[in-house]
Amino acid sequence: MPDHILVAVAWPYANGPRHIGHVAGFGVPADIFARFQRLRGNHVLMVSGTDEYGTPITIAADKEGVSPRAIADRYSTVIGDDLYNLGLSYDTFTRTTTQNHASVTQDIFKTLHTKGYIFRKETLGAFSASTGRTLPDRYIEGTCPICGFGDARGDQCDNCGNQLDPIDLISPRSKIDGQPPVFRETEHFFLDLPAFAERLRAWIEQQEHWRPNVRSFSLNFIKELKSRAITRDLEWGVPIPLPEYAERNDKKIYVWFDAVIGYLSASIEWAKNRGTPDAWREWWQNPQSRHYYFMGKDNIVFHTVIWPSQLMGVGADGEYAGSASGAFAEVPLQLPFNIVSSEFLTTEGKKFSSSRGVVIYVNDFLSRYDPDALRFFLTIAGPENQDTDFTWAEFVRRNNDELVATWGNLVNRTLTNVFKNFGEVPTPAELSARDQALIAEIEGGFGPLAELLDAARFKAALTEALRLAAQVNIYLSEQEPWKVIKVDRARTATIWYVALRCVDSLKIFFTPCLPFSCQRLHSYLGYDGDIAGPLEFKSYSEADGQSHRVLTGDYSAWVGRWEPPVLPVGQALREPKALFKKLDEQVVADELARMGL
Ligand code: MF3
Ligand code: ZN
Repeated sequence: MPDHILVAVAWPYANGPRHIGHVAGFGVPADIFARFQRLRGNHVLMVSGTDEYGTPITIAADKEGVSPRAIADRYSTVIGDDLYNLGLSYDTFTRTTTQNHASVTQDIFKTLHTKGYIFRKETLGAFSASTGRTLPDRYIEGTCPICGFGDARGDQCDNCGNQLDPIDLISPRSKIDGQPPVFRETEHFFLDLPAFAERLRAWIEQQEHWRPNVRSFSLNFIKELKSRAITRDLEWGVPIPLPEYAERNDKKIYVWFDAVIGYLSASIEWAKNRGTPDAWREWWQNPQSRHYYFMGKDNIVFHTVIWPSQLMGVGADGEYAGSASGAFAEVPLQLPFNIVSSEFLTTEGKKFSSSRGVVIYVNDFLSRYDPDALRFFLTIAGPENQDTDFTWAEFVRRNNDELVATWGNLVNRTLTNVFKNFGEVPTPAELSARDQALIAEIEGGFGPLAELLDAARFKAALTEALRLAAQVNIYLSEQEPWKVIKVDRARTATIWYVALRCVDSLKIFFTPCLPFSCQRLHSYLGYDGDIAGPLEFKSYSEADGQSHRVLTGDYSAWVGRWEPPVLPVGQALREPKALFKKLDEQVVADELARMGL
């Protein structure tokens, strides 16, 4: 029985182009996982969009002297293009500024409010002395009252790890203009997190399949759970859905409260857009479904504590969840199954920083290199389990010595030889024991690779696929079909047949990570049709007359193909070209110079 799998990908802020560190954290791992699960035959729904509200956007807008909407419009397009060019196969990549998203967010707010999980409280808020606007916690720095560290942030001290409140900081200052913030009484809505503490603890303790750091970090976090303000003194956000705020424009819902709801609202939008408005329930109100969340490690608590509290609080109530009938009636919204968080990527030993020019933007990278080369590097050498460093020297080395030398070389020598000498999948004579053993070894990879991919161990899976490809290279070096052809054409046909069979299976192993080159390989092998795509942009308009662009695609062509393919003998091949480019050593010096290093 196929499973329903939600691939929930962190929503990038629409405040600038994405760099390769961003897509290493949320994008590439999520896409590999989604593509694999589709091949496996599961029902995959992969959703996300640009995160467009809150201070990350207003600060960028102030810097450029344009409106927040102008920033959001510009960068949602730029980011959507980047993700498309990287081949990230979202079922729906939308935006948080849609009417649909506001409506779902407001419903969750109202439901939690009605059920008593959201309450009103006077607090001291921090405001910028120069602009009078709210200063987000992260933009306030000062001395940690607990350990004395001088550069603690308003939300947390990176030195001792304690959660802080901006008001606790000694000599607080704004990161934006260096001025001390002004603290004023202001009323906000709070999410009653302590009400969920016990349920959260019991639930997280059961999640033994989570990465250990995610689980221990979250358990530690809930030890001292405090209520959190979920509104802000800001004009740019989802309106508070209570009558007394209908005419007011000064307070809005906090961006993190609405962003995580995006996973649900984007699923609802997906169902609506394809004309099956209840289909989202098969993922969200189906206790058998599994939800996987992909993000960088700085997003963990929002996905293991805050979003689960919102979901627990709503349960099966409200306008959306509460309107289910039949099998989904009264079924509470599904909690996360796994939190796949990655560590950080640095480059040339430094933190990415757009302002200091230490940055490699996705669009810039893809203007000179292939998307599969980037996907390969980020998977084999990316921050899956530990902070890692992107260096151009290592990128060139991995590309040339691993991708090109092992997999690229195998495909290249096999296809060029067979195309030249046979033009089609040759008819084998009887297979030797060695031939059969090799095919069995490669085809035996489907089980173990599936286990690794299912467990989100992408680096290990890719390493294993490369090891299997190397086995076929060893076989060819030992069988030497290029020599045998001079004396025994029948045996040559058999050797190449065996190699082609293996390449055809390996193609499936590599497809989740290297979809562009595997699609070309698929066609060189003489097959028609698409491996998974193509991705496409569609435009949808809502009742308010606004239209927005969605990245989507029909990925059904390869569903259920995670098994040894049947390569038809006699199938005509298409003229092959090299799958990958070997990079010149000069690339390293050129790129370092470009970065000013
Ligand atoms: N925009 C946030 C960031 O870039 C991530 C939001 S993820 C979501 O860090 F869960 F809120 F959607
Ligand atoms: Zn501290």
